[in-house]
Amino acid sequence: MECSWRRHGHSPISMALLFFTIALILWSCSLAKAGGDLINDVCSESRNPPSCIKALHSDPRSASADLKGLAKISINLSTKSAKSTWKLVDALKKNATNKSLKEIYDSCLENYDEAIYDLDDCTRLLGSGDFQGVNLRASAAMAYAGTCDDNFREAQITEPPQLVDASNNLQDLSSILLVISHLLEGN
Ligand SMILES: *[C@@H]1O[C@H](CO)[C@@H](O)[C@H](O)[C@H]1NC(C)=O
Ligand SMILES: *[C@@H]1O[C@H](CO)[C@@H](O)[C@H](O)[C@H]1NC(C)=O
Ligand SMILES: *[C@@H]1O[C@H](CO)[C@@H](O)[C@H](O)[C@H]1NC(C)=O
Repeated sequence: MECSWRRHGHSPISMALLFFTIALILWSCSLAKAGGDLINDVCSESRNPPSCIKALHSDPRSASADLKGLAKISINLSTKSAKSTWKLVDALKKNATNKSLKEIYDSCLENYDEAIYDLDDCTRLLGSGDFQGVNLRASAAMAYAGTCDDNFREAQITEPPQLVDASNNLQDLSSILLVISHLLEGN
């Protein structure tokens, strides 16, 4: 009885199972590490690393995503940000008290229309493997948010703080796409 127990404990099948379990644990650890390292590598080169890490982790798909997956996620995040900023500008315009301010908001609406268009095109370009095209579109989207800010500076009118924040947020998110498309170009 005792002997058969011992023999059972060392049976090839249980040893194989033990090794398989250990291998599985090591493999899943390395997967989790790979995902985390990729996010850290990308974010460390972006415009605002802490906000980049927070933004990418806000999408549960990021943990197991490769570079292309992270590109899709950052297109998604940037588009959401551009669309909500367009809505903010529209609301601010409705509250504008004079003509010059309304004109600035009209320019900003055009800027954000362009940014939304560029980001939308990124999905197509990413699909066709045109990473340089993605890079150009992402930097254009970033620049358009900056152009809206410039409208205020040139007119010497104080930009509403919510719009300053929204513009920064879009530029932070587009810069993630800029880093990723650059890395994809190098692959
Ligand atoms: C972002 O992704 C979610 C989930 O796939 C989708 O429902 C949503 O429409 C996307 N938003 C944009 C702006 O692409
Ligand atoms: C517009 O003005 C209303 C009334 O003062 C205010 O409640 C609202 O928050 C303003 N909208 C924006 C986007 O600032
Ligand atoms: C228009 O409104 C903005 C914001 O209230 C103000 O800074 C600016 O001086 C005004 N311009 C004119 C021409 O009244």
